[in-house]
Amino acid sequence: MRLTLRLVILLVAVTAAVGILFALFEARSDRRALFHEIENRAESLGPYVQDHVELLLAPQRSADLQNLLSRVETRAGLFGIAVYDDQGNLLTATSGLSQELNHTPSVVVHAISSNAGRSEFLTLRRNSLFLYALPLHRGPSTIGAACLFYDASYIDATASRDWRNAIDALLIEAFLIALITFLLIRWGFAQPVARMAQWIHEMHKGAALMASPLPQDGLLQPLAKEVERIAKTLSAARATAEEEARLRASAQSLWTAERLRIHVRNKLRDSPLFVISNREPYSHVRSGKSPQVVVPPSGLVTAIEPILLACDGTWIAHGSGDADRETVDANDRLRVPPRDPRYTLRRVWLSAEEEDGYYFGFANEGLWPLCHIAYARPLFRTTDWEYYKSVNQKFAKAALEEMKRAESPVVLVQDYHFALLPLLIKSERPDARVAIFWHIPWPNPQAFGICPWQRELLEGLLGADLIGFHIQTHCNYFVESVDAALESRIDWDHFAVSRGGHRTLVRRYPISVAFTGVPAGPSLLAQLDRPPLLESLGVQALFLGVGVDRVDYTKGIPERFRAIERFLEKYPLYYKQFTFVQIAPPSRTHIPRYQELMIEVKAEADRINDRFAVSGWKPIVLLGSQHSHEEIDAYYKAADLCMVTSLDDGMNLVAKEFVAARDDEQGVLILSRFTGAARELRDALLVNPYDTDQLAEAIRMALEMSPEERQARMQRMRRLVKEHNVYRWAASLISDLVEIRPEAAWPPPAPETAEKTESTEKTDDSSR
Ligand code: G6P
Repeated sequence: MRLTLRLVILLVAVTAAVGILFALFEARSDRRALFHEIENRAESLGPYVQDHVELLLAPQRSADLQNLLSRVETRAGLFGIAVYDDQGNLLTATSGLSQELNHTPSVVVHAISSNAGRSEFLTLRRNSLFLYALPLHRGPSTIGAACLFYDASYIDATASRDWRNAIDALLIEAFLIALITFLLIRWGFAQPVARMAQWIHEMHKGAALMASPLPQDGLLQPLAKEVERIAKTLSAARATAEEEARLRASAQSLWTAERLRIHVRNKLRDSPLFVISNREPYSHVRSGKSPQVVVPPSGLVTAIEPILLACDGTWIAHGSGDADRETVDANDRLRVPPRDPRYTLRRVWLSAEEEDGYYFGFANEGLWPLCHIAYARPLFRTTDWEYYKSVNQKFAKAALEEMKRAESPVVLVQDYHFALLPLLIKSERPDARVAIFWHIPWPNPQAFGICPWQRELLEGLLGADLIGFHIQTHCNYFVESVDAALESRIDWDHFAVSRGGHRTLVRRYPISVAFTGVPAGPSLLAQLDRPPLLESLGVQALFLGVGVDRVDYTKGIPERFRAIERFLEKYPLYYKQFTFVQIAPPSRTHIPRYQELMIEVKAEADRINDRFAVSGWKPIVLLGSQHSHEEIDAYYKAADLCMVTSLDDGMNLVAKEFVAARDDEQGVLILSRFTGAARELRDALLVNPYDTDQLAEAIRMALEMSPEERQARMQRMRRLVKEHNVYRWAASLISDLVEIRPEAAWPPPAPETAEKTESTEKTDDSSR
C-alpha cells in the first residue's frame, strides 16, 4: 500500500508540475496575443483620431471636438478619449473619463516629448486600462496629445479562466492517474505477487509442483516462469537430498547424480571430461522467428547426458540443426541445457557430402547393418570410407583443440561413428585417457570379417585405453575379431589386447537409464490415465499396449504388428478390447532402406487395421512423430504391456525406461531375447521376435497375468534397473578408465623382452 501511495504521489506531483508549466506557458501566450490585438486596434484607430482632433483643436470648435470624441468612443467601444495640451494639461475628455482622471498619465508626457505614439497599461480605480497616446501637431509644432483608453480587464479575466481550466484538468488527471495506478498495481502486481508468494509458501511446505501450477497471469508472467523453473530445480534437489538421506538411512548404496558427481570429481581430480558423439544433445531448428530447441530421439543422448549434467565438461558433436550456427559463440560453443546450462556443447560442422558419406553412408549403411544381425546387407563404398576417415580426423582436430589447455584429459568417445578417433587422439595426446563405448552389438568375427576396412577399424579402436560394450558376448566377439585380423597379444585372463606397446582393456558395461527410484517430478501428462489418453487418439479399448522405437529395421516393428494380428486371430475375445500404440519417430530418412521401412510399417498397420477396425476402435495406432519424454512417460504409465521386439540390439533403453516409469509396479514387458537388456531383465516375457506365434502368445500372457505376478516381476526388474542405473554405468566406466596409467609418449616403447604373440597376422579366411 505504501508503495502504491508513493507511486501515486510521485506521478501526481510530476503530472502537476508539467501541467502547471504548460498552463503558465499558455496563459503567457494568450496574454501576449490579446495585448497585440488591443495594440493593433489602437494603432489603426489612432491616426484617425489624431487627424480629426488636430482639425478641431480650436476654442471655437470645442463642441465639435466633444461630439467627435463621444462618437468615436461609442463606435470603437472605448473606455474613453482624452486630449491634452503640449504641457500635458487635460483640455477635454469623454464624459465617463473626465471624472476618473486626476493626473496626467506618463504615456501622454512621453508621446509629446518623443513626438511619437506610446502605449502602456494602467490601473484606474480598479479598472485595468490600455492607453495609447499620439502627439498632435499644428504645422511643425507639437501642440499636445490625444490619448485612447481601452478597457483591458478582459485580458486578466481570460488569464484567470485559463488558470481555472488548467487546475480543473489537473484535478481530473490526478484522479485518473491515482485510479489507474492503483488498479494496475493491484491487478498486475499485487495479486500475482500474492498468488506467487502463496504458491512458493505451498511449495516450501512440500506441495507437489504440478498439483497447483504457478499462476502465469499478469505482468509477472516471465518472472513466474523463472520462479517455476527455480522451484523445479529446488524440488529436484530436495528429492535427491531426501533420496540420499533415505539411502544412507537404509544403508543402501544406490548411484545417484549427486553421488556420481562427487565420485567423478574425486576420480578425475583436475582432469576435465570430454565426450565425443555424432548426435548432439540439443539442436536448434528454425521455426518462425526464433530458433527452437530440439532433443533428438536417441538412446545415446538419454544415457550420456546425466553424466555431463552431474559432472560438467565438454560434449563435442555434429551441429546438425539448421539454426545451430546462430546459437553458438565465436568458438562454436554454447552452454546447455538451454534453460539450465550445466555443461559445454562444442559443435562441429559437416558439409552435406561429408554427412552423406560418413554418417548415412559408412556408419549407417555399412557399420550399422554389419553389426546388427537383422539381415540387411551392409553397403561398403570406398567414397563413404574416405569421408568416414576425414570426418574422424575433423572431430579429432576439434577434440584436440578443446583439450589444448587441459592436463591429463579424460575422453569418452561414443559409438560406431568414431572407430578411428581413439588412435587419432592418443597419437597426439598420449597423456589423455581415452575410452570408446560401442553402443551397438559387435558381430561375430566371421560376420565382421566381410568389412573391407576391418583392420583399420580395429587399429583405430585399439588406440583407446578402454573399449566398452553392453554385454560380455560383444566383448568376446570383439577380441576374437582382433585375434582373427591383427597381430596382437591377447591377455584372455584380463581381457586386454596389446599391440605396438599399447594395451587396451575390453570391458562390459551394461548401459541404463537415470533411474534412482525417486519420481522424476510430477507431470500433468504422466498423471493422465488410460481413457483420456485413448480418447485423445479417437479409440476406445479396455487394454493398451505400447511400443516406442525409431523407425529402424533392427527394431522388429513389422514383426510386432504381425504378432498383434496373430493375437487377434487366435484370441477374438480381445477384438475391440486391445489397442496397441506404436510411437515411431522417423529416423535416417535419407537412406533408401529406411524409406522402404517407413512405407512397410505404415502399410502393415493399415492392412491390419483394415482387417479388424470398427468405428471407434482399431488394433494399431501408429504415431509417426517425435514425442517428448513426458508424453512417452504417459503412455508407459497407462499401458498394460510394452513390446520391445528388436531383431538385434546392443542394449535397448526403451525396456529400461518402461520399467523405470512403472512406479505402480504394474505393466508387463515383452522383450526380445536378442537385446542386451534381455540379459538383465529376466522377469520380462522373453521372446524371439521372428516367432509370430510366440509373440502373440506373450501378448495374451501379459494381458492375463495375475496382478500379483505382474507386481512381483516388475518389482524385481525395477530393483535391478535402480541398482544398475546409468550413474553406476558411468561411474564404473570412468573409474576403470582413470585407473589406467597412460603412456608418456606415442607410439609407446615396445616391451623390452619380446613376448610370444598369441596371434599372428591373420588371413581373411581365418575363421574360428
Ligand atoms: C541408437 C543406437 C546408438 C546410436 C544412435 C544413433 O540409439 O543405440 O548406438 O548412437 O541410435 O542414432 P542417430 O539417430 O543419431 O543415427
